[in-house]
Amino acid sequence: MTEAWREAGTGAGGEAPEGAGPAGAPARGAVAASPLVARPLTLPRCGLTLRNRLVMVPVATAKADAAGGVTEALCEHYATRARGRHLGLVECEHHFVSPEGRANPHQASISRDSDVEGLRREAAALHDCDTPVLVQLSHAGSAASSALTGMRPIAPSERLAPGAKVGHELPRVMDAGDIGRVVEAFARAARRARLAGFDGVEVHAAHGYLLDQFFSPLTNLREDAYGGDVRGRLRITLEVVDAVRSELDGRMALSVRLGGCDYRPGGNEIEDGVRAARLLEEAGCDLVSVSGGMNYYTRIDTKEPGYFSDLSTPVRAAVGVPVVLAGGVRRIGDAERLLADGACDLVGVGRAILNNERWADVQWRRLERAHQDAGRRR
Ligand SMILES: Cc1cc2nc3c(=O)[nH]c(=O)nc-3n(C[C@H](O)[C@H](O)[C@H](O)COP(=O)(O)O)c2cc1C
Repeated sequence: MTEAWREAGTGAGGEAPEGAGPAGAPARGAVAASPLVARPLTLPRCGLTLRNRLVMVPVATAKADAAGGVTEALCEHYATRARGRHLGLVECEHHFVSPEGRANPHQASISRDSDVEGLRREAAALHDCDTPVLVQLSHAGSAASSALTGMRPIAPSERLAPGAKVGHELPRVMDAGDIGRVVEAFARAARRARLAGFDGVEVHAAHGYLLDQFFSPLTNLREDAYGGDVRGRLRITLEVVDAVRSELDGRMALSVRLGGCDYRPGGNEIEDGVRAARLLEEAGCDLVSVSGGMNYYTRIDTKEPGYFSDLSTPVRAAVGVPVVLAGGVRRIGDAERLLADGACDLVGVGRAILNNERWADVQWRRLERAHQDAGRRR
């Protein structure tokens, strides 16, 4: 079934753009008269409207102060990238929800009520650029270290993620009390995000961090209700979604960044990611952002733009909420093609924007120029 909001949108099931090839994809080199990437999208559940389909996905900058407080440099980092008003949505980098879940020095904190004032400046930096903004909420689990946090890291099982540094300390296995405290920490962080004026939050459940450690069978060997099949391994994330939702107001968006597939023997496979995305939709998410799990955010076998599209395409077919796909997008034409192919509803861009603060402005100018040239040739 194609959702009504998607009918008006992109790719499979949607109207084909002018200049489209046989499957709705623009022929290589052709310029669609009405680019898919330029179409606005109103998130169907919460009503948040994005001016176009480009999302700046979370990329950690380590620009917070030593205590995790938001700095002017952090705000300016986002403002310079959004000032041209060419991004549909900005998702700010991972912020730690509790001290033992801190991944890095100079990572931003959303773990204390006193963080709200700085977070308000972070949200305002994007709103001053007319750009909606989510903040990413994260707990590093076993990827944290006692050298940084002063606490032994916690995790679903006494197992390190496959990419962990050799010799990294083994985590303490979480009991029911720890799980409840982590869920509560995400909920409190969501409340702070609301008080700070963000348009929503993204729960980080990818890239080998705590919620992904629960989801992956490579790191979750539990035999209780938080292990076992997909539903069991996703249980803590579903509880987080529920608790976070209760702290947001109805117009705020709730996204989950899902490490849907591990691309490693014995790990989650594409079907597991699809099943998880369905459960997240049922739990009330507004957006599912597809990325890697225990392989982190890259693939060793491909650097093709949209290199997680083998995962995002079936996820998009299975859920009725918008799907974000990031990975390897360098040009706006890459985004257009992924949308036309039905690989996603929104295209995430990370490193290209990190490395060039004018990326979105340059790319839109390029698109406009291509249009004018195509118009003159018609
Ligand atoms: C330096 C760096 C920091 C990152 N920090 C985060 C983060 O805080 N949260 C997150 O979900 N992903 C993070 N990512 C992953 C990106 O969001 C993105 O998925 C990845 O870079 C692939 O997209 P790209 O090819 O457009 O860069 C980070 C990536 C890089 C390179």
